[in-house]
Formats: sequence, structure tokens, C-alpha cells
Amino acid sequence: MSSTRSTAQQHTEHAANNLESFWMPFSANRQFKKKPRMFVSAKDMHYTTDDGRKVLDATAGLWCCNVGHARPKIVAAVQKQIQELDYAPAFQMGHPKVFELASRVATLMPGSLDHVFFTNSGSESVDTALKIALAYHNVRGQAGRTRLIGRERGYHGVGFGGISVGGIVNNRKFFGSLLTGVDHLPHTHNLKENAYTKGIPAWGAHLADDLERIVTLHGPETIAAVIVEPVAGSTGVLLPPKGYLERLREICTKHGILLIFDEVITAFGRVGNTATAAEFFDVQPDIITMAKGLTAGTIPMGAVAVDKKIYDAFMQGPENAIELFHGYTYSGHPVAAAAGLATLDIYQEEGLFERTKELAPYWEQALHSLKGLPHVIDIRNIGLIGAVELEGIPGKPTARVFEAFLQCFEKGLLIRTTGDIIALSPPLIISKQQIDEIFGTLAGVIKSLA
Ligand SMILES: Cc1ncc(COP(=O)(O)O)c(C=O)c1O
Repeated sequence: MSSTRSTAQQHTEHAANNLESFWMPFSANRQFKKKPRMFVSAKDMHYTTDDGRKVLDATAGLWCCNVGHARPKIVAAVQKQIQELDYAPAFQMGHPKVFELASRVATLMPGSLDHVFFTNSGSESVDTALKIALAYHNVRGQAGRTRLIGRERGYHGVGFGGISVGGIVNNRKFFGSLLTGVDHLPHTHNLKENAYTKGIPAWGAHLADDLERIVTLHGPETIAAVIVEPVAGSTGVLLPPKGYLERLREICTKHGILLIFDEVITAFGRVGNTATAAEFFDVQPDIITMAKGLTAGTIPMGAVAVDKKIYDAFMQGPENAIELFHGYTYSGHPVAAAAGLATLDIYQEEGLFERTKELAPYWEQALHSLKGLPHVIDIRNIGLIGAVELEGIPGKPTARVFEAFLQCFEKGLLIRTTGDIIALSPPLIISKQQIDEIFGTLAGVIKSLA
């Protein structure tokens, strides 16, 4: 834009292209704005585009719309709530629905994870969990425990805490020195050992032993917490090797380190039969972070469930003193709480966690039918999660998989791509016929890729 134009002229030009002002997150802005892809409505398993095409949602939006779209029960709950009580101050005041939601969430958590702190996103849940872990040691007189351990390729959102313990290079390298005192476990992805494994891979539990090395290096008395995704999603669906999570648990317990499971994508039935992956794998963390499925993507909300011992450690000292100096204006927002309660009702009424378990074998078989197609180098799955890894074009990483994404969209299928991996995570209400449709379309697209 020429600097000789007046500000008013510039504003008019700017307004004329109404796509320009919005800086899209995690997107190729210039490419998108040349050829936008717009959704204007959604119902159950489908989106509708601005040119009236139906698109089957194979990603539950962004791993969040677990009950499908525009469910009348949630719509009604949200409408009613905003009319009745649009907002209540989150600090030193309450409203009934947030207490009800916390109790309901607590009943879905494994073991003694019976206290719930509300946030507005997965990133906030992660940063909240890390802060709680640090403060927990502090209030117990172990203020030296300041180190946090994450994992290579981990995704824990985009807050400074989350990117520090996270292990996705592009999410870290532009943003300065991050948190200090962070170390990383090795990731568990190994195509040579585990390619085409159905479900949990057999090889790799020993990788958890690296935690012992890190503990020896820094001293156990300096480490506050280890955070991992029980199933890593955003990095391209990496499954925990058999025995791996158990081993992490053992080592953390041995050294008094808190174990945090980041269940932002796995909580609320994604892996099957249980609300959490922790329960599914029968490994008890000290803290679970969640978001997405809590309100099925309808109203932003996240939560952190903590073990009773952690909550109790803070409930000391004078009763009129604030115990944790942390919280958000919108922690436990009434409208989000109403959406959360309606969402939990739907999970329960429709038995959606059990449904994941029932559909998982069909999903697995359909997904693995893509084996042998050109460019495919691995297929991975658990519950209603699937990943197809393609061989990247030399010198053009992600180009092939992005072409698959565009072609699928043209053919009425929404998939998600990360690196050279296609990641799939449909709403838990998906039918077998729709599973066939996903893999029918995907097979055709993969065959046509250069
Ligand atoms: C494991 C995990 N943690 C944290 C986040 C961040 O959540 P949000 O985008 O709501 O901040 C995500 C998002 O995909 C995630 O998968």
C-alpha cells in the first residue's frame, strides 16, 4: 500500500477486502485468502460450505466436537443460560452450574483426581497445571522443585509453559528463551520397529527409562513434574508403547515427581470406554488437563483435575487467605458451564464412550485397508483416532499431505494434516457407513497424489 494514500483511503481499501484483517492462527494466511475455504453451518456429522457443499467431519472440528455439531440439547442449554445468568465474577463469587460441572467432571476422573480448576482452553489448562505443580511443591516446603520435564514432539498448546515443555520445533524456535529449567524425554515414534501396528506398539517402553537419566542429571529434588500426552495427537498421533506410561508413573512416584497427563484431546471418550486415557491405560496421573471435548467445542472451556493430596496441600493457613494466586476472568463461565453440563449429559445418555469402544475395531480395519497405497509409510490407531503417514516429497515437506487435504475438502471430506501425517478423529457419533465414506474418499485421493 502506497504511503502517499490517506489513512481514510487505506481504511476503505482494507475494508473492501474483508478477509485481510483477520490474522488466522496456525494457517498459511496468504494462500488461504487467495482461495478461501469457508464453513457457514454445521449439523451432526457435517459442515456446510459457503457454496452449499456438505463436508463430512473426520476431525471433530479440531478434535473437539465429540458429540457432533449443533446438538439441540447444548444449543438450548446455552440459550437458556445466557438469558438467565450471562456472567458471574469468577473470583470470590460463584454460580451453581460451575460447582455442578466440577462435581460431574470429578466423577469421570480416575482415582482421587477429585478437584477441578476451570480455564478457557487447552493451553491455559497446561499452563495452569504446570503452575499448580510448582506451587504444590512450594507450599509443601520443597521450593527447589522447579524443573519441568516434557517430551520431544509433545504438543501442550501455545502458552509459554506449554511451548517450553512441548517438543515441536516450529512452535518453540521463534519465541526466545522460553521457560528455563526444562528438559525433554525422547519421543516414542519409531517406524522401523512399530510401523503398521494396530493399537498400542510393542516396542519402546524402555524409552521411559530416560527419565531416570534426567533425574540423575539434575537431581530429583529439583524436578516438579513430568508432562506427557498419553496419546500424542497434534504431532501426528503417536501411541504410548506397551508399558511405557506405567514406567513413567513408577519413576515419578519413586522420586516424588508429579505426573501430568495432558488429555486435551484424549479426554471424553476419544480412546474408548472410559472418559480418560488414564483410566483406559490404567495409569494414574496426579493431574489431568482437558478442554475440547468438555464442551464438545461449543463454548471455549478447559479444566485441570488434580489429586486430592494436591488440593489439600493448598488448604492450609488462615481460612480467609487466597490459597492459589491464579485464575481467569472466565474460569467456569456460566455459559460454558451450561454447555459442559449438556455435553456430559449427551455422552451419558448416548453411551458415547462405550460407542468408541464398539466402533474401534471397525475403524481400525477400515483405516488399515489403506496399507499398500502409494506414498503410505505407516498407519496408526487407537479408539476413534487414526493416522496415515505419507512419505514426504524430498525438499518439500508437507506438500503432498496438504494436497491430500485440499483434494479431500473438494470431495466433501474434512481431514487434518500435521507434518506429512493425516490425522483423523471423527465425532463419536459417526456411523459405520460414514467410516466407509471417509476411507473410500481418502483412498481415492491418496491414489491420485503425485
Ligand atoms: C494435548 C494438547 N494440549 C494442549 C492443546 C492446546 O489446546 P488449545 O488449542 O485449546 O489451547 C492441544 C490442542 O490441540 C492439545 O492437543
